[in-house]
Amino acid sequence: MMQFHQALPKVELHAHLNTCISSTTIEKLMLQKPHLNIQHNMTMIRKGQTRTLEECFDMFKIIHQLTDSVEHIFMVTKDVIKEFAADGVKYLELRSTPRDGNTTGMSKKSYVEAILEAIKQCRQENMDIDVRFLLSIDRRGGPTVAMETVKLAEEFFTSSDGLVVGLDLSGDPEVGHAKSFIDPLNAARNIGLKLAVHMAEVQNKNEEWELFLGLPPDRIGHGTFLHPEAGGSDQLVNIIKKHQIPIELCLTSNVKGQTVSSYNCHHFQYWYNHGHPCVLCTDGKGVFASNLSQEYQIAESAFNLSKAQLWDLSFRSINYIFAPESVKSHLRSQWNDLKPGLFNEVLHK
Ligand code: IMP
Ligand code: ZN
Repeated sequence: MMQFHQALPKVELHAHLNTCISSTTIEKLMLQKPHLNIQHNMTMIRKGQTRTLEECFDMFKIIHQLTDSVEHIFMVTKDVIKEFAADGVKYLELRSTPRDGNTTGMSKKSYVEAILEAIKQCRQENMDIDVRFLLSIDRRGGPTVAMETVKLAEEFFTSSDGLVVGLDLSGDPEVGHAKSFIDPLNAARNIGLKLAVHMAEVQNKNEEWELFLGLPPDRIGHGTFLHPEAGGSDQLVNIIKKHQIPIELCLTSNVKGQTVSSYNCHHFQYWYNHGHPCVLCTDGKGVFASNLSQEYQIAESAFNLSKAQLWDLSFRSINYIFAPESVKSHLRSQWNDLKPGLFNEVLHK
């Protein structure tokens, strides 16, 4: 019998494609590229291990060496979607940074096409998961690349039949400044794209956070240092509360990436206790060696949540997806259909 957390229907809203690649898929890629001499500990942080954020970004670069062709991108996208589906995720928003492959002929456009093709194939194979896509802007590229990404996103927004729903701003928080990205993000918003913005992963960047909140984004990624107890301010919290901006909270990612010292100290507690919209997410289930069921399990024990509270957390996450209202209604009825079985029959561990 399936455990509660896996059987719980779930929504995953913060998942970077390349950091979600499982060790099984990494193994396949390593066999195709033995000359790179990449070992598992270079692409994954195991239980009990931690890395600095800087070291995490180095790991991401290593993974990128393994996925530098459209064939690889297609293959990893299918594998990642299958794995999320097997973990009980019913709605997934994947995000990824369009990339050129220097020697493989991959262009940013064909990169996105490969991902969308994989999503469509999963749909044709009747996988029990609805998958949408966000194009990511890497802060490292600055405003010019950001604007190019917005243009690319616009092309796919109008041609992908609802698969492309938004834009993500991510990348090393120590690189670049928010002011470079406000115009591209506003341009994206005007096109109709939703905005998910990584914010406050590192401390003492209040000026950047105020700029981002001026947009305001449709969802915040991490938001670790926004509240006053973490060095943020009441003013920032008030803006976030006023706009009811949901926060994507990634427990294991933050603990293993050392931006949060322990699960018990995670800012999930602050926002959850304030009744603020919270979504549990994995960030990178491959690199951080987790899955969404495990994140719910960790939240349960770290914050003393009941099974009913876990259910509510998952059910409310439907409100914060970027797909339209009709998709939300469909998901809510899926959740309601699954609820009796989950609470009556599944072994509650
Ligand atoms: P990709 O966009 O599919 O290639 O996924 C990896 C990329 O996502 C990295 O190169 C970063 O730009 C971004 N990313 C992944 N995790 C994080 C994070 O925790 N903070 C900021 N950016 C991240
Ligand atoms: Zn992230």
